[in-house]
Amino acid sequence: MLLFCVHAAPSIPRPRVNARHNRIGPLYHKGWYHLFYQWNPDSAVWGNITWGHAVSRDLLHWLHLPLAMVPDHPYDANGVWSGSATRLPDGRIVMLYTGSTAESSAQVQNLAEPADASDPLLREWVKSDANPVLVPPPGIGPTDFRDPTTAWRTPGNDTPAWRVAIGSKDRDHAGLALVYRTEDFVRYDPAPALMHAVPGTGMWECVDFYPVAAGSGAAADSGDGLETSAAPGPGVKHVLKASLDDDKHDYYAIGTYDPATDTWTPDSAEDDVGIGLRYDYGKYYASKTFYDPVLRRRVLWGWVGETDSERADILKGWASVQSIPRTVLLDTKTGSNLLQWPVVEVENLRMSGKSFDGVALDRGSVVPLDVGKATQLDIEAVFEVDASDAAAVTEADVTFNCSTSAGAAGRGLLGPFGLLVLADDDLSEQTAVYFYLLKGTDGSLQTFFCQDELRASKANDLVKRVYGSLVPVLDGENLSVRILVDHSIVESFAQGGRTCITSRVYPTRAIYDSARVFLFNNATHAHVKAKSVKIWQLNSAYIRPYPATTTSL
Ligand code: FRU
Repeated sequence: MLLFCVHAAPSIPRPRVNARHNRIGPLYHKGWYHLFYQWNPDSAVWGNITWGHAVSRDLLHWLHLPLAMVPDHPYDANGVWSGSATRLPDGRIVMLYTGSTAESSAQVQNLAEPADASDPLLREWVKSDANPVLVPPPGIGPTDFRDPTTAWRTPGNDTPAWRVAIGSKDRDHAGLALVYRTEDFVRYDPAPALMHAVPGTGMWECVDFYPVAAGSGAAADSGDGLETSAAPGPGVKHVLKASLDDDKHDYYAIGTYDPATDTWTPDSAEDDVGIGLRYDYGKYYASKTFYDPVLRRRVLWGWVGETDSERADILKGWASVQSIPRTVLLDTKTGSNLLQWPVVEVENLRMSGKSFDGVALDRGSVVPLDVGKATQLDIEAVFEVDASDAAAVTEADVTFNCSTSAGAAGRGLLGPFGLLVLADDDLSEQTAVYFYLLKGTDGSLQTFFCQDELRASKANDLVKRVYGSLVPVLDGENLSVRILVDHSIVESFAQGGRTCITSRVYPTRAIYDSARVFLFNNATHAHVKAKSVKIWQLNSAYIRPYPATTTSL
């Protein structure tokens, strides 16, 4: 049975992947990116959770290593759950993870370290004799205490110097993050206050906390990500992210961290964690970031589950894929959202490309783009709506919302228009990625970015949705989208990554040589021009057991 693979690799419509599920403890060490993930070696359904382990030189081609950790102590006998890696200044790597305990399934935090940190592959992990190092505090339910973050250091000579956040909820169903202070990762003091809590959001899983460069200072201009312990200050904002167990979505918010109290405050109360922005409006959960010191970037990975039946997962013997990793930056133009973008290495998978410029999309039109086989593509498209069309309508679809709409088949005044990917010649299958403009009576325009799976597949065991959300479009900007297509997954990034959507789709006809791509405009009042469309065939990336048989690592 395969352990794990990145979805850029498969050569079959449903990628041959088995990864339950979320990224845990991602890390860069001595030339290798390390991915640890929640994996059930016995079945394609959740249970008996161990730590799978894979390494890569470039975040795309992966080599499987033996399991990093298995449930073998009373403090994790019921599962070696999510955790995070921290690299200490002296080169030591500490891994904190949640153990589900043997007797009561209580959640406790445990410490592990590589047996030999000079091994670039970090093959062996040793669990601390001091485990468990943290147990649920008073007032917190024993099964509501999990997923420690990467630790960060506070500025100055504070003792203890390190901070770790852990997700939880209170008795009133507020989701929250607790902070602990430690010097040695064995003994911990709770911070006097909660880091943050949001009423009604329920259990926070896989909390993540990291700085991003803000304003127009040198750090923001360089486009670099920031190391987790980067000092808070005027040019720095802090992102707090939680995976909501209640709705299985990953929410983030931008705010300010106070190192004196270890509390965090959102910039905007309406956009707080769990009620505001999401990393991705499609199928995307339990994500985690890490800082890559080589390319000075923060990299985000998400777990992309299946949307077919559990029965199908058992039959095929695997479930879930990892998203293409994304770099994450604060959008310094808006100041109020992140920008997520496929890591630059994806561009090395680009093969032949074709450009289509200035394609007029009349109202109600569908235009095929001849790129040959269209199962693995990297697409960049820029659209322009005739300004006089928007000016001519007094109001347009003000109550529109992607998820409650009829999808790309619906017709509004100023949308939908965009692309159909993983489509067959007669469009009996198609995944639509599109924009939809709204106009208020005050003349204001708003733009939705949506992805419609309703006609993605003839298979009848699928959950199909129309996903999406608003995307900020600033004055003078065109509408732009990047789409990564890979057999059963479509990952889309609008306006440079302000709004992102991931879909799992399982075409039965739009496969191999029969997959096509089209432009479409289903608006009744908008003439749209596809100003430029660039489409590259994407190469496959390998995923295989270590040691590799080639020298091209
Ligand atoms: C996220 C999660 C974590 C937990 C792990 C268990 O999906 O539920 O909260 O640590 O997965 O596998």
